[in-house]
Amino acid sequence: MPVTLVVGGQWGDEGKAKIIDYLARDVDFVVRYQGGANAGHTVVVGTEKFAFHQVPSGILYPKVTCVLGGGMVIDPLALVAEIDGIVARGVDVHGRVLVSAQAHLVLPYHVLLDCDSEDRRADGAIGTTRKGIAPAYADKARREGIRMADLLRKPASLRDLVGDRVRENNRLLKARGMKPLSPKKVIDELLAARTRLVPLVADTRPVLWEAVAAGRRVLCEGAQGSLLDIDHGTYPYVTSSSCTAGGAATGTGLPPSAFDRIVGIFKAYCTRVGNGPFPTEEKGEIGKKLRELGHEYGTTTGRPRRCGWFDAVAARTVVKINGMTDIALTKLDVLDTFASVKVCNAYRTGKSTMDVFPADARAVESVSPVYETLPGWKEATSGRRLEDLPRPAVDYIRHLERLVSCPIHLVSLGPERSAMVRIPHGPASLMGA
Ligand code: GDP
Ligand code: IMO
Ligand code: MG
Repeated sequence: MPVTLVVGGQWGDEGKAKIIDYLARDVDFVVRYQGGANAGHTVVVGTEKFAFHQVPSGILYPKVTCVLGGGMVIDPLALVAEIDGIVARGVDVHGRVLVSAQAHLVLPYHVLLDCDSEDRRADGAIGTTRKGIAPAYADKARREGIRMADLLRKPASLRDLVGDRVRENNRLLKARGMKPLSPKKVIDELLAARTRLVPLVADTRPVLWEAVAAGRRVLCEGAQGSLLDIDHGTYPYVTSSSCTAGGAATGTGLPPSAFDRIVGIFKAYCTRVGNGPFPTEEKGEIGKKLRELGHEYGTTTGRPRRCGWFDAVAARTVVKINGMTDIALTKLDVLDTFASVKVCNAYRTGKSTMDVFPADARAVESVSPVYETLPGWKEATSGRRLEDLPRPAVDYIRHLERLVSCPIHLVSLGPERSAMVRIPHGPASLMGA
């Protein structure tokens, strides 16, 4: 296993961290490759619940080194606070966190500009997490960003660089009617974080190349999801990074040829937090039931997640974009009490139907889902083994696998580590079909 990649298949919150935690038992490195503090990755161990934002979800395993890759935008103050929070819960992180010198910094003006843009959009708001993500990636693209490598400068040089950037952004803040930031305060806070972060900053690319060459196991952790990808998602209702498999190469420095397993994470239904098109959304009782049973409230913002049925049109498109080799299906247990379950297998628009997710979000807005209805199982699945799963639940898994043309190798049946069934060769082979 040179490198395995875990990538979100929907609009984020698919349960990626639960699967990372499961797979991380056997790995040496877990590497985040994009996004920042907009992510909320939950790992449940016994009665303990951890929510990671910037630190990779493998941190609970003492032998795992966690790398924050160059494709990330990192809030340095929040990172220090997150590491302190993890240490306070008894996890020894010493020598186990590396931060890429190429990663960009999220600074206070990014957060203010993100909030202001959202407020100005009013009804057209994207519904961002307000963590400064888009302005930080915009600065990166504009070649005006500050990177982790800059923390390695002498303090006086860093002061000049950050001071200039704050003063320049203050002009923008004032033009938008906001209070300017104190350059001194921003610099002093950053210098305090710098002391803590400098020992972690490294060129992480050779570390990963050497690890792969030595046969050590590397797991890359995607944040957000493929339908939030800056290029392939429902633009402009997306995040600002490449969440899909392509982003894992640029965001880590590992070549595309290094990735030999690409695991797509999908919920057994769909959720979305924030605005934008969502063809299978259920706005009534069914959506409410999914939200309550699935505890569908944002890990980072606490916002209620919009809920609906599994969308195989979107999923089969995402399987192709990422070249997924297998799927982990999560939260199947949330469907346990439904008398029947629906799956969208095509979109209708006017007189035509389509089976590929449209490239343009406006086209997604105007489609109606075409559903297939399958029998529910009306039995609790949590804690069961594969051979004890109710037949309609297995049929549902097999059906999804067929609709999206990708084998489902893991099925999660609850938030805890133990609530997982492995399907070594996919359900089709096991069930003799
Ligand atoms: P991520 O961002 O993709 O890592 O997902 P989040 O952590 O934001 O949201 C997933 C939520 O579902 C978390 O609260 C998990 O503890 C929970 N979860 C994960 N897998 C399962 C599962 O199979 N069943 C149930 N009921 N909950 C799950
Ligand atoms: P994880 O990694 C779900 C959504 C926001 C908004 C859009 C843009 O936990 O799956 P941003 O703050 O990135 O500019 O917001 O993306 N979003 C997420 N939705 N899970 C996430 O992360 C998300 N990160 C961002 O709600 O719609
Ligand atoms: Mg999440």
